Amino acid sequence: MFEGHGLDLSQTPDHPTIDELRSRQLKIANVVENDSLLIIVNNPESIRSADVEYPYRASSDMLYFVGWSKPDAVFCISNRGGEMKSLLFIPPRDTLKETWTGLRIGLDEATNQFPIDRAESIEDITDILASELEKSTNVYHQRGLSDIVDRVVDDALLETSRMRQRTGFGPANLCDPRPVIAELRLMKSETEIALMRHSCRIGSAAHIESMQQAFSGMAEYQIQAVIEGCFIHNGSQWSYPSIVGGGDNATILHYNENNSPVNDGELVLIDAGCEIAGYASDITRTWPINGKFTEAQAILYQLVLDSQMAAISMCKPGATFDDPHNAAKKVLAQGLLDLGIISGPTLEEAMSSEQLGTYFMHRTSHWIGLDVHDVGVYAPDDTPRILESGMVLTIEPGLYFGAWRPDVDIDEKWAGIGIRIEDDVLITENGCDVLSDDCPKTIADLESIIGSAA
Ligand code: GLY
Ligand code: MN
Ligand code: MN
Repeated sequence: MFEGHGLDLSQTPDHPTIDELRSRQLKIANVVENDSLLIIVNNPESIRSADVEYPYRASSDMLYFVGWSKPDAVFCISNRGGEMKSLLFIPPRDTLKETWTGLRIGLDEATNQFPIDRAESIEDITDILASELEKSTNVYHQRGLSDIVDRVVDDALLETSRMRQRTGFGPANLCDPRPVIAELRLMKSETEIALMRHSCRIGSAAHIESMQQAFSGMAEYQIQAVIEGCFIHNGSQWSYPSIVGGGDNATILHYNENNSPVNDGELVLIDAGCEIAGYASDITRTWPINGKFTEAQAILYQLVLDSQMAAISMCKPGATFDDPHNAAKKVLAQGLLDLGIISGPTLEEAMSSEQLGTYFMHRTSHWIGLDVHDVGVYAPDDTPRILESGMVLTIEPGLYFGAWRPDVDIDEKWAGIGIRIEDDVLITENGCDVLSDDCPKTIADLESIIGSAA
């Protein structure tokens, strides 16, 4: 169990090197104006109950620029006169605290092991950050993550007029760092692609394992346990809470109660992905728990698969972000017209939100990377973005016929069927590379695997 089904999961690709992280810092320092200070506050910890916290996940920007995964850290990059300097605030060594929560990296070790020029104790942030701010004209800071940092920045901006009058220096502009960082993160490097491919491979193995272990009546949480057990067994963790929905539950897009049995004759929709070094996979497969599609299930499944293949064929440099979505919509709308589920009469009308949108109510794609719904503008200047080599997006069309829905009269033949098929697709120089293509999705492949190890 969990060994990978012929997929090589043993070699975790290299994490980004210090040089790569430094070059990312240099790029952002060159994008912001001279005399800027960019501040990245790590995610705060979050209480689950009493003194128990949720498992900690560092902010994706902190991982992107520093590779630092622990809480209570603040990273700064300054660009003064074209010279970049980086500074990381971290909790200092403390034997008592380390006894409870684990060893910390000392300030000197941090400077040696991470891509930073200087490390300081987070306990000294007020004075040191204030002095950095005094020397900066533009401050790139996202508010709301740390009261202390927000206050130091506010105080510095309030002091500006007096300070600038005295010295000619001082912060004058507060800017949101997210748009400039998003543009960098949108284009993936070879290292990032290798990590995402590995994350997809583990995700694919987990989905295959769940197919093999399946039996009628299996609980959704038991399927979730197989999937997430495989993630953990292979050194990863989920990148978003797993969605495992049988029958009508598959028609709830973000269902994650995962607490019902999947009954004989029902489809199960599993939307589950993992992350490696922070890099996500996001994979959905839908299949019959008893190993055999009914006629109605097969018709709708094949339609969603055809629409997904049409969308993937539009993933190439020069196409727009909307092209795969439009291709998927076209196939789905024509299929539903042919089945008499929507009325058209034209294909254009069939593709409208009132018709196709009743059964396919989400977009086909989102960017994926360090965040499962990754950063990057979809329509700069309100025009769909041109796809370029190095971008990674999901392709995930679906059809949902929830029997529970009060707004639509669903023919009994289709009621309780929810189908989504999702892969992660890298745009390459000549077309695309489906990073999750180890995960089976044809009807014949699925039927031959389901239940084979139950
Ligand atoms: N797993 C959430 C999504 O597919 O967007
Ligand atoms: Mn997705
Ligand atoms: Mn998904």
